[in-house]
Amino acid sequence: MSLETALYDEPAWYDLLHQEGTEEEAAMVLDLFSLHGNGGKDVLEPACGTGRLLAAFTKKGFRVTGYDINAKALAFARKKNRRARLIKSGMTAFCEPNSFDLAFNLLGTFRHLERDKEALRHLELTARSLRKGGIYIVQLDLSDYEHPEDDEETWTARAGLKQIDHVMMSLAPDRKRRSEKILHFLNLKGPGGAKRVKSVYALRSYDLAQLEALIARSPLRLIETLLYPEDGPGVRDAVCVLGVSKK
Ligand SMILES: C[S@@+](CC[C@H](N)C(=O)[O-])C[C@H]1O[C@@H](n2cnc3c(N)ncnc32)[C@H](O)[C@@H]1O
Repeated sequence: MSLETALYDEPAWYDLLHQEGTEEEAAMVLDLFSLHGNGGKDVLEPACGTGRLLAAFTKKGFRVTGYDINAKALAFARKKNRRARLIKSGMTAFCEPNSFDLAFNLLGTFRHLERDKEALRHLELTARSLRKGGIYIVQLDLSDYEHPEDDEETWTARAGLKQIDHVMMSLAPDRKRRSEKILHFLNLKGPGGAKRVKSVYALRSYDLAQLEALIARSPLRLIETLLYPEDGPGVRDAVCVLGVSKK
């Protein structure tokens, strides 16, 4: 993985940056599980980072497991959520056969798998980890290769004396290489002083056809794709509900 992980190495700041929206994201996953799931109680979050989304599930009585490759994020997650089982592992390694009813992977984290081979391995291991009727919810942004554009998003998050100013740039995806460069510039201000953090990494790019073709090659079947906006040019957000085909 070509990744300068500075942002992921700052779990408290990462958590604050994504605080707004966390409740809605967890609620969306729960809604989709009510609609398409098997009613089970075991939840898995591959690449869970700081575990910001897991609290909503432990509160509702789910048994929760998260894994990530970043030890700092996991240490932070463990302190925050004593009821979650948190494991250091990777998306092309973790497998606990027939153990989970729901898995989810939001914020385009799946795109960290930069090759089809890795993405397919991850889908295969996750499919094996799901029980009968289990679902995997994957959310990512889709590229529009016909209208390639650099994109910039800025936002500020605050808690008490802490403030984080964030600029995120996504460079226009390269259709041939299937790669998109992401840059984060963060200004962290708190009682202890100020600090600048930069992250640069590449993500796999997908348009809808490429995503559906990948899923068709995996052991998971596509139950539903929600698109925002539904059509039109530009980057779109996709939420895919994937189900276990045979069990
Ligand atoms: C954008 S963050 C998302 C974290 C969390 N899922 C969330 O929604 O806040 C991406 C996370 O993926 C983790 N990650 C990246 N590549 C990974 C891999 N191959 N296996 C496991 N974790 C990975 C990073 O350490 C980071 O915590």
